[in-house]
Amino acid sequence: MKVAVIDDEEVACRHIKRVLEGEGFEVEYFLDGHSFLQRLTHSFFPIVFIDLHLPDMNGMEILNQVKRSFEEVEAIIITGHASVEGAVDAIKAGAYHYIAKPFKRHDVKLLAEKARKKIELLEENRALRQALGKEGSIEGFVGSSPAIQEAFAMIEKVALVDCNVLLQADTGTGKQMAAKAIHNMSPRHNNSFVAFNCGGFTEELIASELFGHEKGSFTGATATKIGLLESAAGGTVFLDEIGEMPLTMQVKLLHVLQERQIFRVGGTKPINLDVRFIAATNKDLKKEVEAGTFREDLFYRLNVVTIRLPKLTERKDDIPLLITHFIEKFRLKFNKQTSKITHQALEILNHYNYPGNVRELENIIQRAVALADGESIQVRDLPADLRKLAMTTFEGEDLLSLETLEKQHIAKILDITGNNKKLSSEILGIPLTTLWRRMKKYGLGKP
Ligand SMILES: Nc1ncnc2c1ncn2[C@@H]1O[C@H](COP(=O)(O)OP(=O)(O)OP(=O)(O)O)[C@@H](O)[C@H]1O
Ligand SMILES: [Mg+2]
Repeated sequence: MKVAVIDDEEVACRHIKRVLEGEGFEVEYFLDGHSFLQRLTHSFFPIVFIDLHLPDMNGMEILNQVKRSFEEVEAIIITGHASVEGAVDAIKAGAYHYIAKPFKRHDVKLLAEKARKKIELLEENRALRQALGKEGSIEGFVGSSPAIQEAFAMIEKVALVDCNVLLQADTGTGKQMAAKAIHNMSPRHNNSFVAFNCGGFTEELIASELFGHEKGSFTGATATKIGLLESAAGGTVFLDEIGEMPLTMQVKLLHVLQERQIFRVGGTKPINLDVRFIAATNKDLKKEVEAGTFREDLFYRLNVVTIRLPKLTERKDDIPLLITHFIEKFRLKFNKQTSKITHQALEILNHYNYPGNVRELENIIQRAVALADGESIQVRDLPADLRKLAMTTFEGEDLLSLETLEKQHIAKILDITGNNKKLSSEILGIPLTTLWRRMKKYGLGKP
């Protein structure tokens, strides 16, 4: 990775060059601003060290110019001994960090490494987004509506920050997918993603699953067992249905979050824990806190950032996109020819209200692709209750009698032509006398 150093003190430049070249960076240095800016016109430096006080220009100007040509540049400001205020301004203007003279070898190395990591991660993310972004999605996440795009943006942002996250959203909206996406785009992506469902277990079982146990700690514990938290070392733990966790267990979890340590059941040796927690719930946890069924302190520990995922009815525009996505998915899975959907079937699906959100839509399409005979999914391939619903949905719209349709259409044409009967009969393709008769029949104006 290329690094530029802009400082009028050559000794300082050489020092940085020596340290960073030892770390595999490619370093060029410049003793004034102009020679650097000239080089910048045909070269690209993801990391720059800039001295604020240069003979020919202010370091801030250089910083602004570099940012303008490449927004994601990692700029490290070099300051003299006493000019920390200038550095603060620089950081506000988008510098990454500052380093004061005389530099320590270790600090130079550390800052450059950090900057490199950040840039690599950004690039990885961009590549990922480009690969998957054709349908406006991350990680197989489909959706282009503003509501889901907002959620995507949060997911991307929070992925880079190593904080706990709470996903609060209805059933089937993609909470687990979101958690996985955060993990995959985070610096922890090379380590495990472990999901645990907090509902439906006794406290003892949860403890043993999460913390593991020592051999002989209870009857039946014939061997030492490594718990989920321990096995996720360096990775991400997804606590699904956190709202279902028994209160006694919540205390234990709080302790883990605070101390970053666990004890295996029956164990006495603390084990250090390096994991990120993402919790999910379809309950309103704040209300649970008020009702006393969820610990407030645990709520605040988990809820550093909340991400809400929209209900499918809040992003109806995405329904056709999701349908296409799922048809393709199940066409490949079932090895079928079905790659389309008829207009009528699509209409029905557009009008339904999906209490089970994306998961429900996915199930409907899976079933339809399995049942479909030809190229297209037909109304008959949809579940019976949806077809029935369609009858009421379309009442007064698509399910009109020919007579009503004829009446409406004639009225519309008369309206458009400003009640010009001759013109209307020509447009309608019927003799003028027929038009008169119909007008009389339907009570449309004066023939
Ligand atoms: N935006 C999306 N694009 C594509 N598929 C999606 C999207 N959102 C959800 N899905 C699919 O819908 C299904 C449900 O998603 P997921 O399991 O992540 O939801 P959930 O919120 O965890 O649901 P539950 O509350 O029922 O546990 C999955 O099969 C997932 O692949
Ligand atoms: Mg889930």
